[in-house]
Amino acid sequence: MLGKPISRVLVIDDELLVMRELVKGLNAAARSLDNPLGIVFAGVTSAAEALAAIEEDGEVQAAVVDDKLYAVSAKHSGAAQMSALELVRRIRRFRPEIDVYILIAKEQEDEIVDALFAESVDGYFYREERDYRGIYRIINAQIQEKAHTPFYDQLKNYVWMAKDSWHTPGHSSGESLRASPWIGDFYEFMGEHIFDADLSVSVPMLDSLMEPRGVIAEAQTMAAKAYGSRRTFFATNGTSTANKVIFQTLLAPGEKLILDRNCHKSVHHGVVLSGAHPVYLDAAVNRKYGLYGPVPKARILEAIRVHPGAQALILTSCTYDGLRYDLPPLIEAAHQQGIKVIVDEAWFGFARFHPEFRPTALEAGADYAAQSTHKTMSAFSQASMIHVNDPTFNEHIFRENFNMYASTSPQYAMIASLDVARKQMMMEGYKLLSRTLALARELREQINSTGVFRVIELEELLPEELSADGIRLDPTKVTVDISRCGYTVEDLQRELFTRYNIQVEKSTFNTLTLLLTIGTTRSKVSRLYDALMRIAREGRSQQRLYRFPELPEFAPLRMLPRDAYYCGGEALPVLDERDQINAALAERVCADQIVPYPQGIPVLVPGQSITVEIIEYLAGLLRSQKRVELHGIVYDGYLPCVRVLTPAEERSLRGLA
Ligand SMILES: Cc1ncc(COP(=O)(O)O)c(C=O)c1O
Repeated sequence: MLGKPISRVLVIDDELLVMRELVKGLNAAARSLDNPLGIVFAGVTSAAEALAAIEEDGEVQAAVVDDKLYAVSAKHSGAAQMSALELVRRIRRFRPEIDVYILIAKEQEDEIVDALFAESVDGYFYREERDYRGIYRIINAQIQEKAHTPFYDQLKNYVWMAKDSWHTPGHSSGESLRASPWIGDFYEFMGEHIFDADLSVSVPMLDSLMEPRGVIAEAQTMAAKAYGSRRTFFATNGTSTANKVIFQTLLAPGEKLILDRNCHKSVHHGVVLSGAHPVYLDAAVNRKYGLYGPVPKARILEAIRVHPGAQALILTSCTYDGLRYDLPPLIEAAHQQGIKVIVDEAWFGFARFHPEFRPTALEAGADYAAQSTHKTMSAFSQASMIHVNDPTFNEHIFRENFNMYASTSPQYAMIASLDVARKQMMMEGYKLLSRTLALARELREQINSTGVFRVIELEELLPEELSADGIRLDPTKVTVDISRCGYTVEDLQRELFTRYNIQVEKSTFNTLTLLLTIGTTRSKVSRLYDALMRIAREGRSQQRLYRFPELPEFAPLRMLPRDAYYCGGEALPVLDERDQINAALAERVCADQIVPYPQGIPVLVPGQSITVEIIEYLAGLLRSQKRVELHGIVYDGYLPCVRVLTPAEERSLRGLA
C-alpha cells in the first residue's frame, strides 16, 4: 500500500488569536475541498518557532508569513522577533524548495511588497479578505505544480492508451517476449511496464530528448527550478557523457583545461575527444590510507594565475570519499581570469536539498554542474543531469555536442526516473536527507563501538597540506579503518559478501568506504553493525596489510592528448626478454591512457613522455600477485605492451611548448 502524502503549511503570525482563526479557517477549507496532497495548516507565533518547525518537520511544504512581523521588528529593533523579510530570507536559505506566501494588509505600502518581491516570494494574500478557500486553492495548486511530473505522467498516459505499436523498439511493448518459452521468464522478471514504457521518438506526444519542446522540456525546466540552475538537461548516458558534452562545448582544440589528475576517467577521455590542452594538477595524497584527495587550494590558485588564458577549470566535489572543496574562492579566482568552472558533482547531486550539504556548486558560482542523479537518488543507472548557469552559455553549440553523444533511442524509463527523482527531492528530499544524516551518525557510533573498526573523520582523512583549505566532509560517505580486524581488505569484503550479504562501495588496502543514500534504511545499518561486531569479536590478530604502491609522478606532456591518441603508433613491451624493464620505452610518447584498477587514476595519458619511474611502476604491477586491472595495456600475445608514437609520428606532430 502506498502511503498518502502529508503537506504541512506553516502559518506564522505573532497575534495568537489571529493565527488561530487563520489556521482554523484554512483547515476547514482543506477539509471541505479536494485535498489529494494531504494539506494541513499549523500555526506558530514567532519567527524562531517557524524556523525550528521548518528544520524539524520535513513535511512542511509551504509557509504563510504575516508581514506584521516586519512592523514589529521595525518598532522594536533588536527585539527577539524577526522581520517578515528576514524570516523569508532565512527560510529561502535553509530550504529553498519551500513555497513562501505573505499576508499583507490592503493598504500595504508598496515598499514592503517591493522588498519581499526581491526575495522571490511565491504569492500574497490580503489578510482582511479572510478568503480561506481561495488561499487554500492557490497553495494546493502550487504544491501540486511542484509535485507534477510532466514526462512520467505523459508516459503513463501513453501506456494506458494501449496504442498498437508499428514502430521501434522491436519487442513491441514486450509482445516478442511475453509468450516465448525461451525468454518469457525475462519478461516476467523485469515486469510488464519495463517493456510497455520502453518507447521511442516515433511517439511525438513523448517529446524528443534531442530537441525538447514538450513534456521533456517541461520536466527539465522544473528540474532547473528545483536545482537552482538557469537551464537543466537530462543526460541518459551518465555523467561520463555529461563531462564530455560540456568540454566539447567550452573548449576548442588546443585550448587549455585545468583539471585534477585524479578526475574521473571520463574527464580524461573528454580531453582526448575535445582536443583540449590539459593542465594537470596533482591531488593531495593521504599515504596512511592510500586515499587520493582534492587538490590543494594553493595549487589550484597558482594554476589559475599561471594559465590566465585557460578556458575552463574542472573540479570534482565532493570526491568519491566525500571531500568537498571550499568552492567560492576558487570559482571567484577562476572567474576573475575569465575561466569557466565546471564541477563534477557525480556524487553530490542531492546537496541542494539539505543545508548540511550546501553550498552546491551552482550556489558557489559554478558555470556547469554534472550530477549522476542515479548514484545517490531515485533514478535509474545512467540517468544524470547537466545544470548550466554559464551567463554566456552557447546553447546551439551545447545542443550540437549533446546530440553528438546522445543515442537517438534514449531509454524513456530513465528520463521518467529523472523527472520522478526531481519530484521526490523537491517534496521529501529534506526529510529523507535528514534521516540519512541521522543514520550516518548512528552508523559512525556503532562502527566505533566495535572497538576494532573505526570511522576515519575529516581531520584524519585530510592530508596535512589540505588542513587549512576549508575542505568539508559529506557525512553520508563513511570511510572505515579496517586495519585492526585481522582480515585483509579483500578477505573482509568477501566475508561481508558471502556470510553477511553485504556489498560495500569501495576500498583501499586498509579502508572500506560505505555509501549512505536516501535509500539506506535502519535495518541495513543494523545488519552492517551486527556483521562488523561479529567480525570484531572473532578477535583475530592483526595482519600485515600490503599497501598499493604510490603513483609515480605525472610525466611532462609533449603532445596534445588527442594528437597522440589518434596516431597509429607501435606497441613496445614493458618488460624485456630477461623480465627486466624495457629501457627502450623510456622517453617515448605514450598514445593511450594507462589506468590501474584499483585506484582508477591514470599513470599515463596520451601525449605524455614515459619515464623510467613509470615503467618500473607498471612492471611492478604486472609482476604483482595481486589482481590489478591495467586498462590501456595492449597485449602482443602474452607480452604486455604500451602503445607509443613512432619516431616519425613524433616528428610530424607539433610539440607543446
Ligand atoms: C567523479 C566522477 N565523475 C563522473 C563519474 C561518471 O558518472 P556516471 O557513472 O554517471 O557516468 C563517476 C563515476 O563513478 C565519478 O566518480
